[in-house]
Amino acid sequence: MRPISRRQALLLGGLGAAGTVAGGAGLIWSLSSPAARPPGGNLIQPEELRSGNGQLPVRLAAGPAQVQLGGRQATALAYNGSVPGPTLRLKAGDTLRISLANGMSQPTNLHVHGLHVSPENNGDNVFAAVAPGTSFDYEYRLPADHPPGLYWYHPHHHGMVADQVFAGLYGAIIVEDPEPIEASAECVLVVSDTSVDGLGNISATSAMGRMAGREGELLLVNGQINPQFTSRPGQRERWRVVNACVARYLQLRLDGQQMQLLGMDSGRLGEPRQVEDLVLTPGSRADLLITTKAGTSSLRAFQYNRGSTAGMMGQGPGPLGPAEPADGVALASFQVAGEAAPPQAAVPAQRAPMDLRGAAVAAHRQIVLSAGMGMGGAGMMRFTINGREFDPARTDITAAAGTVEEWTLINSSTMDHAFHLHVWPMQVVEQNGQRDSSPDWRDVVNLPANGRITVRVAFADFRGRSAYHCHILDHEDLGMMGAIEVR
Ligand code: C2O
Ligand code: CU
Repeated sequence: MRPISRRQALLLGGLGAAGTVAGGAGLIWSLSSPAARPPGGNLIQPEELRSGNGQLPVRLAAGPAQVQLGGRQATALAYNGSVPGPTLRLKAGDTLRISLANGMSQPTNLHVHGLHVSPENNGDNVFAAVAPGTSFDYEYRLPADHPPGLYWYHPHHHGMVADQVFAGLYGAIIVEDPEPIEASAECVLVVSDTSVDGLGNISATSAMGRMAGREGELLLVNGQINPQFTSRPGQRERWRVVNACVARYLQLRLDGQQMQLLGMDSGRLGEPRQVEDLVLTPGSRADLLITTKAGTSSLRAFQYNRGSTAGMMGQGPGPLGPAEPADGVALASFQVAGEAAPPQAAVPAQRAPMDLRGAAVAAHRQIVLSAGMGMGGAGMMRFTINGREFDPARTDITAAAGTVEEWTLINSSTMDHAFHLHVWPMQVVEQNGQRDSSPDWRDVVNLPANGRITVRVAFADFRGRSAYHCHILDHEDLGMMGAIEVR
């Protein structure tokens, strides 16, 4: 693909969309007008690329593209021209090869979020940069016992992550179950948000918006607003939901249907657990089983209070995020009707999750996430971990391969942060003084305002340099990130 400069892209987008606006179809479906959010057509699944014979070779071209976002024509950034990008379906033990071609006028790179793979060389190396007009060949070898689940990919070039994700660069990765779970239908629901201006361009974000963590006006599932899909009663559906929003927390509810959680991130529960409501922090995923009952329901996102920046900023913007309607925002509508389907086989027993609570701990660390006014003033807050902004040349933590560490994550600010560690998953052992009763594995944990969480991490299988950060991607870009080396 021929690289198109951002300037050209903006011009092209402007010209392309002018007619749309004149034609009256330029109306932005915004969260402040919930009544104006009709079901947006049938749910579309991103293209799926499956591995064969243990290999999945993929070519991903990242670049400007004209796409439909929530029914509007927009100039976005896309992988292979679509938002979301293709879903990559793998098995444990597979090798995934991605040739990433950068067709943008700015650098980028790729992170396979949640995969337990090497962070070195052309593996899940977020320190590598792919210059405009060049390409880079990544190779990820999944261990034979890689946990099944839902993962995802997105750019990770420091300073540009939020902009590139907000503009459309993300896609899902599925690692299949060792023993299939019978389901009448499966779908991937990639939830994202963005804002598109009157000319069809992705809106820029103010300094204030970055500090708060930007939330878009359009809340999308697979690039659509409130798509609909159908089923028959008595079925078991498999929904894989990823929160690909830059900063928005999703408090999800599905009324009128039985919803069971199979797992979050790479963490599988011993057995599926019935849930009424579910909070997905940015970056995290839920693997859900829905047992269908006749009727119409919608998957809704409710307002989640992630704190405020008031107090840190003088007259700050106060509570974060848009005021969503009390009955939530419909993400997708689900109609169940017709003949009841015959029952499905029981869910096979899941591998019991590993438990590090009895493990010998080689090191205890405190990791403090802070957001506060900087000394120099200029109205900018500083986003730091242990008092420092990210520096790619500095290694903040050195851990010994093969050991288990216990990290106390402390949030000293008045807003929530979503703590993410690459490569090695975290077992939550204590939240705000409460010990966890069952092993709970995550790669993103929410760290509530002024809260603390204790996690344990086994630095198994791989050595190398990687990163941990706040998954409110604006905060990551502003410096709330650190580098870890396992050796
Ligand atoms: Cu999904 Cu380091 O991020
Ligand atoms: Cu944060």
